[in-house]
Amino acid sequence: MWRLESKKVLVTGGTKGIGKACVEQFLELGAKVLFTSRTSKEVQDLENELKDQGYQVKGLVADASKLSDSENVLKWISENWSSLDVLVNNAGINIRKKAHEYSEEEYKKVLDINLVAPFTLSRLLFPLLKLSAESTIINVASSAALQDVGTGTPYAMSKAGLLQQTRSLAVEWASEGIRVNAVSPWFTKTPLTEGYLHNEEKMKSIISRTPLNRVAEAKEIASIVAFLAMPASSFVTGQNIVADGGMSINAL
Ligand SMILES: NC(=O)c1ccc[n+]([C@@H]2O[C@H](COP(=O)([O-])OP(=O)(O)OC[C@H]3O[C@@H](n4cnc5c(N)ncnc54)[C@H](OP(=O)(O)O)[C@@H]3O)[C@@H](O)[C@H]2O)c1
Repeated sequence: MWRLESKKVLVTGGTKGIGKACVEQFLELGAKVLFTSRTSKEVQDLENELKDQGYQVKGLVADASKLSDSENVLKWISENWSSLDVLVNNAGINIRKKAHEYSEEEYKKVLDINLVAPFTLSRLLFPLLKLSAESTIINVASSAALQDVGTGTPYAMSKAGLLQQTRSLAVEWASEGIRVNAVSPWFTKTPLTEGYLHNEEKMKSIISRTPLNRVAEAKEIASIVAFLAMPASSFVTGQNIVADGGMSINAL
Protein backbone atom coordinates (compact mmCIF):
# COMPACT_ATOMS: atom_id res chain seq x y z
CA MET A 1 0.00 0.00 0.00
CA TRP A 2 2.79 2.43 0.89
CA ARG A 3 5.25 1.68 -1.89
CA LEU A 4 6.22 3.15 -5.21
CA GLU A 5 8.97 0.71 -6.22
CA SER A 6 9.53 0.53 -10.01
CA LYS A 7 6.68 2.97 -10.72
CA LYS A 8 7.34 5.17 -13.76
CA VAL A 9 6.86 8.81 -12.81
CA LEU A 10 6.96 12.08 -14.77
CA VAL A 11 7.38 15.35 -12.81
CA THR A 12 7.12 18.61 -14.76
CA GLY A 13 9.17 21.52 -13.43
CA GLY A 14 11.43 19.13 -11.54
CA THR A 15 14.63 21.15 -11.13
CA LYS A 16 13.58 23.45 -8.29
CA GLY A 17 11.25 23.87 -5.33
CA ILE A 18 8.29 21.53 -4.96
CA GLY A 19 9.03 19.70 -8.23
CA LYS A 20 12.60 18.91 -7.18
CA ALA A 21 11.36 17.70 -3.78
CA CYS A 22 8.89 15.41 -5.61
CA VAL A 23 11.67 14.03 -7.85
CA GLU A 24 13.83 13.28 -4.79
CA GLN A 25 11.01 11.73 -2.78
CA PHE A 26 9.80 9.48 -5.62
CA LEU A 27 13.39 8.28 -6.18
CA GLU A 28 13.85 7.59 -2.45
CA LEU A 29 10.64 5.52 -2.59
CA GLY A 30 12.10 3.38 -5.38
CA ALA A 31 10.37 4.89 -8.42
CA LYS A 32 11.99 5.66 -11.79
CA VAL A 33 11.67 9.36 -12.53
CA LEU A 34 11.64 11.52 -15.65
CA PHE A 35 11.65 15.24 -14.90
CA THR A 36 11.48 18.34 -17.10
CA SER A 37 12.20 22.05 -17.00
CA ARG A 38 13.13 24.77 -19.49
CA THR A 39 16.73 25.37 -18.35
CA SER A 40 19.17 22.95 -19.94
CA LYS A 41 22.07 23.36 -17.48
CA GLU A 42 19.83 22.84 -14.44
CA VAL A 43 18.28 19.72 -16.01
CA GLN A 44 21.71 18.25 -16.78
CA ASP A 45 23.21 19.14 -13.39
CA LEU A 46 20.32 17.59 -11.44
CA GLU A 47 20.29 14.45 -13.61
CA ASN A 48 24.05 13.99 -13.04
CA GLU A 49 23.77 14.65 -9.29
CA LEU A 50 20.97 12.10 -8.84
CA LYS A 51 22.56 9.49 -11.15
CA ASP A 52 25.75 9.77 -9.05
CA GLN A 53 23.61 8.75 -6.06
CA GLY A 54 22.60 5.61 -7.98
CA TYR A 55 19.04 6.58 -8.93
CA GLN A 56 17.19 5.67 -12.17
CA VAL A 57 16.46 9.18 -13.37
CA LYS A 58 16.31 11.14 -16.61
CA GLY A 59 15.94 14.89 -17.21
CA LEU A 60 14.55 16.42 -20.39
CA VAL A 61 14.49 20.06 -21.42
CA ALA A 62 10.82 20.75 -22.16
CA ASP A 63 8.56 23.76 -21.82
CA ALA A 64 5.24 22.35 -20.57
CA SER A 65 3.38 25.02 -22.53
CA LYS A 66 4.93 24.02 -25.89
CA LEU A 67 3.14 21.20 -27.67
CA SER A 68 6.25 20.10 -29.59
CA ASP A 69 8.21 19.78 -26.31
CA SER A 70 5.40 17.76 -24.71
CA GLU A 71 5.37 15.50 -27.79
CA ASN A 72 9.11 14.88 -27.22
CA VAL A 73 8.33 13.88 -23.63
CA LEU A 74 5.66 11.48 -24.92
CA LYS A 75 8.19 10.05 -27.41
CA TRP A 76 10.81 9.49 -24.71
CA ILE A 77 8.33 7.69 -22.44
CA SER A 78 6.95 5.57 -25.31
CA GLU A 79 10.45 4.50 -26.38
CA ASN A 80 11.92 3.92 -22.93
CA TRP A 81 9.07 2.89 -20.63
CA SER A 82 6.13 2.12 -22.99
CA SER A 83 3.64 3.10 -20.24
CA LEU A 84 3.36 5.68 -17.45
CA ASP A 85 2.15 5.20 -13.86
CA VAL A 86 2.28 8.71 -12.40
CA LEU A 87 2.08 12.18 -13.95
CA VAL A 88 2.80 15.13 -11.64
CA ASN A 89 1.73 18.39 -13.29
CA ASN A 90 3.83 20.66 -11.11
CA ALA A 91 5.38 23.27 -13.45
CA GLY A 92 3.90 26.66 -12.70
CA ILE A 93 4.73 30.34 -12.74
CA ASN A 94 3.32 33.58 -11.45
CA ILE A 95 3.43 37.21 -12.53
CA ARG A 96 2.13 39.35 -9.67
CA LYS A 97 0.34 42.55 -10.74
CA LYS A 98 -2.91 44.46 -10.39
CA ALA A 99 -5.49 43.12 -12.86
CA HIS A 100 -5.46 46.25 -15.01
CA GLU A 101 -1.65 46.28 -15.25
CA TYR A 102 -1.16 42.92 -17.05
CA SER A 103 -0.40 42.84 -20.74
CA GLU A 104 -2.44 40.27 -22.66
CA GLU A 105 0.77 38.32 -23.23
CA GLU A 106 1.54 38.19 -19.49
CA TYR A 107 -1.80 36.87 -18.24
CA LYS A 108 -2.11 34.41 -21.12
CA LYS A 109 1.35 33.05 -20.27
CA VAL A 110 0.26 32.37 -16.67
CA LEU A 111 -2.89 30.60 -17.89
CA ASP A 112 -0.98 28.66 -20.57
CA ILE A 113 1.64 27.24 -18.21
CA ASN A 114 -0.53 26.70 -15.11
CA LEU A 115 -3.85 25.59 -16.62
CA VAL A 116 -3.65 24.68 -20.33
CA ALA A 117 -0.32 22.80 -20.16
CA PRO A 118 -1.52 20.24 -17.55
CA PHE A 119 -4.58 19.53 -19.73
CA THR A 120 -2.44 19.15 -22.86
CA LEU A 121 0.05 16.85 -21.16
CA SER A 122 -2.61 14.74 -19.44
CA ARG A 123 -4.41 14.27 -22.79
CA LEU A 124 -1.19 13.44 -24.65
CA LEU A 125 -0.11 10.89 -22.04
CA PHE A 126 -3.62 9.38 -21.61
CA PRO A 127 -2.85 6.33 -23.84
CA LEU A 128 0.30 5.55 -21.81
CA LEU A 129 -1.46 6.10 -18.47
CA LYS A 130 -4.23 3.73 -19.61
CA LEU A 131 -1.64 0.99 -20.12
CA SER A 132 -0.63 1.09 -16.44
CA ALA A 133 -2.54 -1.15 -14.02
CA GLU A 134 -2.97 1.72 -11.52
CA SER A 135 -2.19 5.20 -12.81
CA THR A 136 -2.56 8.59 -11.22
CA ILE A 137 -2.31 12.24 -12.18
CA ILE A 138 -1.49 14.75 -9.45
CA ASN A 139 -1.95 18.44 -10.24
CA VAL A 140 -0.17 21.00 -8.06
CA ALA A 141 -2.75 23.75 -7.54
CA SER A 142 -2.63 26.37 -4.74
CA SER A 143 -4.48 27.97 -1.83
CA ALA A 144 -5.01 30.75 -4.37
CA ALA A 145 -7.51 28.45 -6.13
CA LEU A 146 -9.87 28.72 -3.15
CA GLN A 147 -9.57 32.23 -1.76
CA ASP A 148 -7.85 35.49 -2.57
CA VAL A 149 -4.31 35.34 -1.17
CA GLY A 150 -2.90 38.32 -3.03
CA THR A 151 -1.25 36.37 -5.86
CA GLY A 152 -2.88 38.29 -8.68
CA THR A 153 -6.05 37.23 -10.50
CA PRO A 154 -4.58 35.26 -13.47
CA TYR A 155 -2.67 32.90 -11.11
CA ALA A 156 -5.79 32.40 -8.97
CA MET A 157 -7.93 31.80 -12.08
CA SER A 158 -5.42 29.29 -13.44
CA LYS A 159 -5.31 27.28 -10.20
CA ALA A 160 -9.10 27.36 -9.70
CA GLY A 161 -9.44 26.07 -13.28
CA LEU A 162 -6.90 23.36 -12.52
CA LEU A 163 -9.05 22.12 -9.63
CA GLN A 164 -12.10 21.75 -11.88
CA GLN A 165 -9.89 20.11 -14.53
CA THR A 166 -8.90 17.64 -11.77
CA ARG A 167 -12.53 16.85 -10.88
CA SER A 168 -13.76 16.56 -14.48
CA LEU A 169 -10.91 14.31 -15.64
CA ALA A 170 -11.27 12.20 -12.47
CA VAL A 171 -14.86 11.38 -13.45
CA GLU A 172 -14.14 10.95 -17.16
CA TRP A 173 -11.10 8.70 -16.68
CA ALA A 174 -12.18 6.69 -13.62
CA SER A 175 -13.44 3.93 -15.93
CA GLU A 176 -9.95 3.82 -17.53
CA GLY A 177 -8.36 3.18 -14.12
CA ILE A 178 -6.77 6.64 -13.92
CA ARG A 179 -7.13 8.59 -10.67
CA VAL A 180 -6.77 12.39 -10.82
CA ASN A 181 -6.17 14.48 -7.69
CA ALA A 182 -4.72 17.83 -6.66
CA VAL A 183 -2.60 19.26 -3.87
CA SER A 184 -3.03 22.91 -2.88
CA PRO A 185 -0.10 24.39 -1.00
CA TRP A 186 -0.11 27.67 0.92
CA PHE A 187 3.21 29.55 1.09
CA THR A 188 6.11 27.13 0.67
CA LYS A 189 9.84 27.92 0.72
CA THR A 190 10.96 27.67 -2.93
CA PRO A 191 12.68 29.92 -5.50
CA LEU A 192 9.19 31.02 -6.67
CA THR A 193 8.39 32.65 -3.32
CA GLU A 194 11.95 33.55 -2.25
CA GLY A 195 11.67 37.29 -2.94
CA TYR A 196 8.19 37.55 -1.43
CA LEU A 197 9.07 35.63 1.75
CA HIS A 198 12.19 37.76 2.27
CA ASN A 199 9.92 40.74 2.89
CA GLU A 200 9.67 40.72 6.69
CA GLU A 201 6.28 42.41 6.80
CA LYS A 202 4.73 39.99 4.28
CA MET A 203 6.21 36.99 6.11
CA LYS A 204 4.80 38.28 9.42
CA SER A 205 1.34 38.67 7.93
CA ILE A 206 1.45 35.15 6.37
CA ILE A 207 2.54 33.55 9.65
CA SER A 208 -0.05 35.43 11.70
CA ARG A 209 -2.76 33.84 9.50
CA THR A 210 -1.27 30.34 9.76
CA PRO A 211 -2.10 28.31 12.91
CA LEU A 212 1.03 26.14 12.50
CA ASN A 213 2.96 29.42 12.69
CA ARG A 214 5.29 28.90 9.72
CA VAL A 215 5.39 28.37 5.96
CA ALA A 216 5.82 24.89 4.41
CA GLU A 217 8.98 23.12 3.30
CA ALA A 218 8.86 21.75 -0.26
CA LYS A 219 9.26 18.17 1.00
CA GLU A 220 6.02 18.55 3.02
CA ILE A 221 4.14 19.09 -0.25
CA ALA A 222 6.05 16.34 -2.09
CA SER A 223 5.02 13.77 0.55
CA ILE A 224 1.32 14.46 -0.16
CA VAL A 225 1.98 14.10 -3.90
CA ALA A 226 3.70 10.77 -3.19
CA PHE A 227 0.77 9.57 -1.04
CA LEU A 228 -1.68 10.37 -3.86
CA ALA A 229 0.46 8.27 -6.22
CA MET A 230 0.45 5.20 -3.93
CA PRO A 231 -2.03 2.32 -3.71
CA ALA A 232 -2.59 3.66 -0.13
CA SER A 233 -4.82 6.34 -1.70
CA SER A 234 -6.47 3.99 -4.22
CA PHE A 235 -10.09 5.01 -3.36
CA VAL A 236 -9.35 8.75 -3.64
CA THR A 237 -10.03 10.55 -6.90
CA GLY A 238 -11.15 14.03 -7.93
CA GLN A 239 -10.00 15.47 -4.58
CA ASN A 240 -7.88 18.42 -3.52
CA ILE A 241 -5.67 18.09 -0.45
CA VAL A 242 -5.08 21.54 1.03
CA ALA A 243 -1.66 21.85 2.69
CA ASP A 244 -1.87 25.22 4.40
CA GLY A 245 -0.89 24.82 8.07
CA GLY A 246 -4.55 25.49 8.98
CA MET A 247 -4.73 28.89 7.25
CA SER A 248 -8.08 28.26 5.53
CA ILE A 249 -9.88 27.18 8.72
CA ASN A 250 -8.56 30.07 10.78
CA ALA A 251 -11.49 32.44 11.04
CA LEU A 252 -10.16 34.67 13.83
N1 LIG B 1 5.95 27.90 -3.49
C1 LIG B 1 4.72 28.16 -3.09
O1 LIG B 1 4.48 28.86 -2.08
C2 LIG B 1 3.54 27.59 -3.85
C3 LIG B 1 2.27 27.72 -3.28
C4 LIG B 1 1.17 27.21 -3.96
C5 LIG B 1 1.35 26.57 -5.17
N2 LIG B 1 2.59 26.44 -5.71
C6 LIG B 1 2.69 25.74 -6.99
O2 LIG B 1 3.65 24.71 -6.90
C7 LIG B 1 4.27 24.50 -8.17
C8 LIG B 1 5.77 24.57 -7.99
O3 LIG B 1 6.09 25.84 -7.46
P1 LIG B 1 7.52 26.18 -6.85
O4 LIG B 1 7.28 27.16 -5.78
O5 LIG B 1 8.28 24.95 -6.58
O6 LIG B 1 8.14 26.96 -8.12
P2 LIG B 1 9.67 27.25 -8.53
O7 LIG B 1 10.52 27.20 -7.33
O8 LIG B 1 9.64 28.47 -9.36
O9 LIG B 1 10.00 26.00 -9.47
C9 LIG B 1 9.24 25.82 -10.65
C10 LIG B 1 9.83 24.72 -11.47
O10 LIG B 1 9.05 24.61 -12.67
C11 LIG B 1 9.88 24.83 -13.81
N3 LIG B 1 9.05 25.46 -14.83
C12 LIG B 1 8.46 26.68 -14.80
N4 LIG B 1 7.77 26.89 -15.92
C13 LIG B 1 7.91 25.78 -16.67
C14 LIG B 1 7.44 25.37 -17.94
N5 LIG B 1 6.69 26.17 -18.70
N6 LIG B 1 7.75 24.14 -18.39
C15 LIG B 1 8.53 23.31 -17.66
N7 LIG B 1 9.02 23.63 -16.46
C16 LIG B 1 8.72 24.86 -15.98
C17 LIG B 1 11.05 25.67 -13.28
O11 LIG B 1 12.23 25.54 -14.05
P3 LIG B 1 12.51 26.51 -15.33
O12 LIG B 1 12.12 27.89 -14.92
O13 LIG B 1 13.97 26.32 -15.57
O14 LIG B 1 11.68 25.96 -16.43
C18 LIG B 1 11.26 24.99 -11.92
O15 LIG B 1 11.93 23.78 -12.05
C19 LIG B 1 3.71 25.58 -9.09
O16 LIG B 1 2.67 25.05 -9.86
C20 LIG B 1 3.19 26.63 -8.13
O17 LIG B 1 2.16 27.39 -8.68
C21 LIG B 1 3.69 26.94 -5.08
